[in-house]
Amino acid sequence: MKFQRIKGTRDIYGKEYEILMEFYQRAKKTMDKFGYSFIITPTFEDVNLFIHSTGETTDIVEKEMYVFEDKGGRKVALRPEGTPSVLRAILENDIEIPCKVAYFANMFRHEKPQKGRFREFYQLGVEYIGYIDPLVDFEMFLIIRELMDIFEVKNYYFEVNSMGCIDDRKRYKEELKNYLSEKLEVLCNDCKRRFQRNPLRILDCKIDAEKIKDFPRITEFLCDGCAEHFEKLKMYLNKNNIKFSINPKLVRGIDYYTKTVFEVKSGRLGAQDALGGGGRYDGLMKIIGGPDTPACGFAMGMERIMLASEYKLPYEKDLIFIVYTSPELKEKAYNLYLFLTKETLKCDIVLDTKSLKSQMRRANKKGAKYVVILGEEEEKMGGYKIKDMEKGEEKFIKKENLPDYFKNI
Ligand code: HAM
Repeated sequence: MKFQRIKGTRDIYGKEYEILMEFYQRAKKTMDKFGYSFIITPTFEDVNLFIHSTGETTDIVEKEMYVFEDKGGRKVALRPEGTPSVLRAILENDIEIPCKVAYFANMFRHEKPQKGRFREFYQLGVEYIGYIDPLVDFEMFLIIRELMDIFEVKNYYFEVNSMGCIDDRKRYKEELKNYLSEKLEVLCNDCKRRFQRNPLRILDCKIDAEKIKDFPRITEFLCDGCAEHFEKLKMYLNKNNIKFSINPKLVRGIDYYTKTVFEVKSGRLGAQDALGGGGRYDGLMKIIGGPDTPACGFAMGMERIMLASEYKLPYEKDLIFIVYTSPELKEKAYNLYLFLTKETLKCDIVLDTKSLKSQMRRANKKGAKYVVILGEEEEKMGGYKIKDMEKGEEKFIKKENLPDYFKNI
């Protein structure tokens, strides 16, 4: 009986795995520098956490969540995003606020799979909790700029908007509904449905974009505080040479945002062009039962980062392959393999005894940089033959000199 992966999921292995881990390590260094601590939260949570925070009328909660009842009759969801879990964890563990938290984790959304869109995918997420200061919003852009550098993503661009505070949004929603009510008949069925439940999402619609070109801009409905916050952020970005454009249609698919929202996009990705997105969410902590606490954050889709990245694994690998000329030498060869792994060198060996030629072929295929050959001749002389696979050169090395030989090259 043969099995297949569930649609929209992937096996990550070989080079892709190496790149993902390399990116994780690079990201960890960056986040350490900015003073963020990593957190691992559970893969599944009480479904109500997402209903209340991500938002009942969002596509994520309405259509895309993997929800099931566990054996205790609890309704749980595979996390579709990390922000609600992080806030829950901060509250539940009494983590001191202000705090800066990051995570690298798999998320689950039952979306239609396509290039850059999966049902299980990895996010690098960053949350800065505790300050209303627009410097926090600005820091998100700084971090993203550094991440783009270390992930070797070029030609990315930022889109920014402000959603205002809850009151601003309420006023704006009314205005938008007034405007849309006159166009309702010509809008697509999805938008007709969104009109009552979540009119802001109509701005996102690709089908109706032309029909609502002259929609009212949310930035014209901001109160003084929100307008000033937005102005300051733009000033910090300009002063620091971070290029962005204002996208008045950018409302994001999640309910908790207040004030700043942004996305970082790439021209290399096709339809799923958002490498990452985020914004401020000053009301969320209170919604999930905590103190009234401002916060801001973002998350990046690692699969999309890998698609857009120009990073290539260095060809030069440091793998040392051990081969032997007769079955009698296999045990000795294996001991040498163990010895070298203790020296933290990257080694491999073939165990189903094969001809020297086929062992060499295997070494080549694995991209070995050096092959250590154990042969009767070399045994008698108390050493090994070493072949440099790139240069094709061979030389004899005494046993006791082997670790130093590898250390010095
Ligand atoms: P989001 O925009 O829903 O925000 O997701 C962030 C990023 O995750 C997207 O820009 C995209 O790169 C990636 N992503 C989303 N869905 C998929 C998918 N189906 N397949 C592959 N990649 C995907 C959030 O999740 C918020 N929690 C971000 C945030 C943090 N806001 C404040 N703090």
